[in-house]
Amino acid sequence: MKKAFIKSYGCQMNVYDAERMADVLAREDYAETAAIEEADLVVLNTCHIREKAAEKVYSELGRVRVLKAERAAKGLDTKVVVAGCVAQAEGREIIRRQPAVDAVVGPQSYHRLPELLKSGHGAVDTEFPVEDKFAALPAPSREKTRSRGISAFLTVQEGCDKFCTFCVVPYTRGAELSRPVAQILAEAERLAGAGVREFTVIGQNVNAWHGEGPDGRPWSLGRLLHRLAEVPGILRLRYTTSHPRDMDDALTAAHRDLPALMPFLHLPVQSGSDRILEAMNRGHTGDAYRRLVERIRTARPDIALSSDFIVGFPGETDADFADTMRLIADVGFASAFSFKYSPRPGTPAAESGEQVPEPVKAERLRALQALLEAQRQAFNHGTVGRSVSVLLEKPGRHPGQLAGKSPYLQAVQIETDAHRIGDVVPVRIVRAGSNSLFGELDDGSSRAAA
Ligand code: 5AD
Ligand code: SF4
Repeated sequence: MKKAFIKSYGCQMNVYDAERMADVLAREDYAETAAIEEADLVVLNTCHIREKAAEKVYSELGRVRVLKAERAAKGLDTKVVVAGCVAQAEGREIIRRQPAVDAVVGPQSYHRLPELLKSGHGAVDTEFPVEDKFAALPAPSREKTRSRGISAFLTVQEGCDKFCTFCVVPYTRGAELSRPVAQILAEAERLAGAGVREFTVIGQNVNAWHGEGPDGRPWSLGRLLHRLAEVPGILRLRYTTSHPRDMDDALTAAHRDLPALMPFLHLPVQSGSDRILEAMNRGHTGDAYRRLVERIRTARPDIALSSDFIVGFPGETDADFADTMRLIADVGFASAFSFKYSPRPGTPAAESGEQVPEPVKAERLRALQALLEAQRQAFNHGTVGRSVSVLLEKPGRHPGQLAGKSPYLQAVQIETDAHRIGDVVPVRIVRAGSNSLFGELDDGSSRAAA
């Protein structure tokens, strides 16, 4: 069997796509390897969201070129493929910049990877094909399905029609597309049958999902979540990433009515300034976001919120930034991602003459991250002394420990015996570290974690 090394950058969509590429390659007799030196095929599944992410690919490709030459000296052939969003955005330009690359394949056409590999050096496929990629993808083998672990991603939606003025996704991932219910359920049942206990339902704009139901009519994400909760073996559900504009009543109600749906929501707001939100084409104000959060908290009072923030969007003044800091203080986030604005080729904001100087961006990011970090720590410390349910996912950092997640997506280390992986257990949190919580089984059977 030949060996394939697949590395993913960026978001969960890419993690999922990398797994599906491995399924495609398994059919071509490739086994996955974690050791790049022994790989006959290297696939970099890339991210184009910010300049840094895209540039990372070229430095990695420089290293891959050296490896390829070393293997060639030993008479070994190495194929190099660039997949993902940089592939989609830059196409053939990648091969021009780095001739060690053999093929380029976009996120919508990776099911055609075998044909591409056969067509020789320099093949590029960045089409948005008419055939259904998901339907064309092979079902993973039993062993591969098993390796997906306790918690798995399940893609239900791809692409984005929102066109936020900073974002490349509508160009790299294309128009919004919802998978039909039957297709999603078939995949869900297969995963659950192989031991998966938690789904994170994913899509670039997951709450815009409106896939066709068995009755031929579109369903809402709230309804889909109810149906997924009925899949035998499934204990927990999450979904990401949502847009505030698509947070409908059915979805909010699911947070109240569906016990399997975990009380954690990643709901990017990007900015707290109405002027900037408008320039970003977000379609909501700061107050609309505050009201939405209130509605969600009414449905599920303990829900933990997470968000993405961009500082230094073109034209952002100190007053705009202060509005963002105020929104953060008002809402309170359990976790968050935050970034300096990075101009992306082809997006409207990149053309703006009001670019914010780098030192200003850096200082705003520092202040914003300090506030968000304080909120995150406060949230984590708030769980100390409480009993929370934890889904045990894998062996912990030390022997005799297991690692799992709280309902609020906090990593928890528990001292207990290993045979309970896949179970949801009550855990009393005894301590909050900087990145994990430490706890003991709340059924009286375990020692306290150090
Ligand atoms: N610059 C900085 N951050 C960006 N994001 C998207 N595009 C850009 C950009 N051009 C951030 C947004 C988004 C997250 C995935 O990445 O916050 O929600
Ligand atoms: Fe990166 Fe966005 Fe593409 Fe995901 S969808 S890989 S975050 S550019």
